[in-house]
Amino acid sequence: MSEINQQITLNSRPDGWVVQENFKLVDGQIPEIGEGEILTRNLFMSVDPYMRSRMNDAKSYVPPFQIGEVLQAGVVGEVVTSQNPKFNEGDVVVGMLGWENYSKSDGEGLLTVERGPVPLSYYLGVLGMPGMTAYAGLVGVADVQAGETVFVSAASGAVGSVVGQIAKIMGCAVVGCAGSDDKVDFLVNELGFDRAFNYKTCGSIARKIAELCPKGIDVNFENVGGEIMEAALWNMRDFGRIAVCGMISNYNDKEMTPGPRGMGIIIQRRLKIQGFIVSDNPGLNMEFIQKAVGWLAEGKLKYRETVTDGLENAPSAFIGMLKGENFGKQIVKIA
Ligand SMILES: NC(=O)c1ccc[n+]([C@@H]2O[C@H](COP(=O)([O-])OP(=O)(O)OC[C@H]3O[C@@H](n4cnc5c(N)ncnc54)[C@H](OP(=O)(O)O)[C@@H]3O)[C@@H](O)[C@H]2O)c1
Repeated sequence: MSEINQQITLNSRPDGWVVQENFKLVDGQIPEIGEGEILTRNLFMSVDPYMRSRMNDAKSYVPPFQIGEVLQAGVVGEVVTSQNPKFNEGDVVVGMLGWENYSKSDGEGLLTVERGPVPLSYYLGVLGMPGMTAYAGLVGVADVQAGETVFVSAASGAVGSVVGQIAKIMGCAVVGCAGSDDKVDFLVNELGFDRAFNYKTCGSIARKIAELCPKGIDVNFENVGGEIMEAALWNMRDFGRIAVCGMISNYNDKEMTPGPRGMGIIIQRRLKIQGFIVSDNPGLNMEFIQKAVGWLAEGKLKYRETVTDGLENAPSAFIGMLKGENFGKQIVKIA
């Protein structure tokens, strides 16, 4: 076992866009464990958009990160030593741990997962929080039905790519947008989306959606907010549903920006708009995992990830993901 436990702490809070200086790489101690605790050697960690909000000193559904403290993430780790009867040496666990080589935990919230059937990093993506989010929003919140038209933004990402594929499996027409031609090509030619477009080069996004969704949108799975959400709103069908999952276009704003224009559409078209958090309905998450394992095995659910090597590169992987440099789920390989 290495003697040093490299860790990444919050050095300062961002003022607008996140920068490298907001993070600090420090040499910490490998923690001593006591009764009921385990020590993990961390293998993979996830960087996710919600972490940007946790860098602000603001109230939210998860508490803010604290200056000088080790940041937290979804981590896959191997149990090195255990004084907790629920975990054995060599078990692989997934759950919230630190941006660090070794973590101490009382086991609360950690799940033991199997080695072998899928790469371990999948438990942070398609078989983890992002995959569950896709299912929770589409099935639990939007109540999507076969034959409907689904529109999804940030469509090639961790959540969006699963949203589009589940909607196809459920018999929907699926249209997505993404920020590069390569991503658009991937959506249509690899993931089986019916249509997709590059929102950066398409001209009017509202007109593009109207062209690609001629009957309008029944379900908008909203990952981005801002201009894309406004364009989708104007293309909603009567009694359409908007599952508001994220607003990544706003996360680095210094000032709050005005919301979508044309909100009168909500009345005219009798729309339902609901925000949600992946943890709202744990039963649905388990239902998704059971289905997703089968879909992956049958090749119906395809999955792509960008893996950055080295804990020390986690801040740049995180910043790059916020800028759209990831292709699929952004993962950091720690060991
Ligand atoms: N409610 C929940 O429980 C929950 C859980 C997980 C995630 N989320 C939300 O779901 C959304 C997607 O998360 P994810 O983990 O799947 O991330 P992701 O899509 O894998 O990565 C983020 C992507 O967002 C796109 N993006 C960034 N800035 C943008 C902008 N200004 N306009 C349009 N697109 C932009 C980029 O793709 P392009 O190259 O296509 O621009 C980037 O690759 C986020 O808003 C996140 O906060 C919510």
